[in-house]
Amino acid sequence: MDFFQRQQQHLYAENCKVAQLAEDYGTPLYVYSKATIERHYQAFADANQAAGLDHLICYAVKASSNIGILNVLARLGSGFDIVSGGELARVLKAGGDASKVVFSGVGKTSAEIRFALETGIHCFNVESEAEIDRIHAVAQAMQVKAPISLRVNPDVDAGTHPYISTGLKDNKFGVPIKEALRIYQQAATMPYLEIKGVDCHIGSQLTEIQPFMDALDRVLLLVDELAANGISLSHIDVGGGLGVDYRGETPPTPERYVAALAKKLSGRNVKVVYEPGRAIMANAGILVTEVEFLKTNEDKHFAIVDAAMNDLIRPSLYQAWQEIVEVEIDPSASKQVYDVVGPVCETGDFLGKDRQLAIRSGDLLAIRSAGAYGFTMSSNYNSRPRAAEIMVDGEHSYIIRERESFDDLIKGEHLLP
Ligand code: LLP
Repeated sequence: MDFFQRQQQHLYAENCKVAQLAEDYGTPLYVYSKATIERHYQAFADANQAAGLDHLICYAVKASSNIGILNVLARLGSGFDIVSGGELARVLKAGGDASKVVFSGVGKTSAEIRFALETGIHCFNVESEAEIDRIHAVAQAMQVKAPISLRVNPDVDAGTHPYISTGLKDNKFGVPIKEALRIYQQAATMPYLEIKGVDCHIGSQLTEIQPFMDALDRVLLLVDELAANGISLSHIDVGGGLGVDYRGETPPTPERYVAALAKKLSGRNVKVVYEPGRAIMANAGILVTEVEFLKTNEDKHFAIVDAAMNDLIRPSLYQAWQEIVEVEIDPSASKQVYDVVGPVCETGDFLGKDRQLAIRSGDLLAIRSAGAYGFTMSSNYNSRPRAAEIMVDGEHSYIIRERESFDDLIKGEHLLP
């Protein structure tokens, strides 16, 4: 459930009229709802409490990384799943607790590893044997012990889009689960490593519980095998991946998901680490855009809007469907089926296809479910300044990232002498 609701003809973000926000801050505009973020985080936390699980929720920063958002989560006690030194810097700036940070990703540099060790993160999610050697070397040079988990690839089909499926054996992530025992045994002999846990993330936008359970079964077999070999783990990181409702999907709720995990984990004295991104943020944000022109080519109708694939690439990149709604219902406008497209010079620049809308030039549209992998995947393609981001809290709104200017676009660029 989110706090973007319609009252009569007006779309509201909590108690703020979206049309007024567009007027105040301009478009394209990312609008996030603080109450929705809090509600979604709390759903995870409450479900764990109810199931009696020792847990750590590490919000996946890549989903939406504005420090204003991270700060809201940090205040709730959230940990963070990061994939770069840049994300760690954001977490620290936002008041996040480094000791609740897990560091994922297949290509960690020595500098990033050093930075993470200096700040005292909870754990590295190690994705290869070569990375173990690198972490060990950096830790040795610093004369500290690096906390590690091995990310295992359970070869489970997450049943999601191929670009966001990560747990199959031909994906680049993790180590094959059948090699894990040997790698753990090797790591256990390395003096500057401390083995903490095991990690598994099989993909994103999962709408069924079964792939999670299949992956956990395989991970638990490994945990038992490790225990039999004298390697005990203090946590199991189940990754992120819980899907959301973009178009009538009915993914498991955090309650159902956590309860199912808890059932499998009963009797085990182990902390569960979660890395949710989308489930917390997707429906906590919208992208507001203004219709520039309505145009008809032959029998095809286009709504050309001021947001584009550089602002929200999910439709272009994954053929992702996100709901598009009128911000204000305009009773004088007639309904028509439009492709909603941006000004970028690519045929793939669309935000939605075949959408029935009653709009005129100058009207506002809201692209729903844009809070995750929206702004963070945006770019300056076509030299388009990136959108502003705001957070609403009840009847208040706060700018959390200013709209970029033309000067921002060329910041750091130089003419030849
Ligand atoms: N943990 C790891 C190691 C991940 O790679 C990811 C996402 C997450 C957690 C968070 O997954 P979530 O709970 O958000 O599903 N850009 C794509 C999604 C890419 C996901 C990448 N990894 C999209 O817009 O659909």
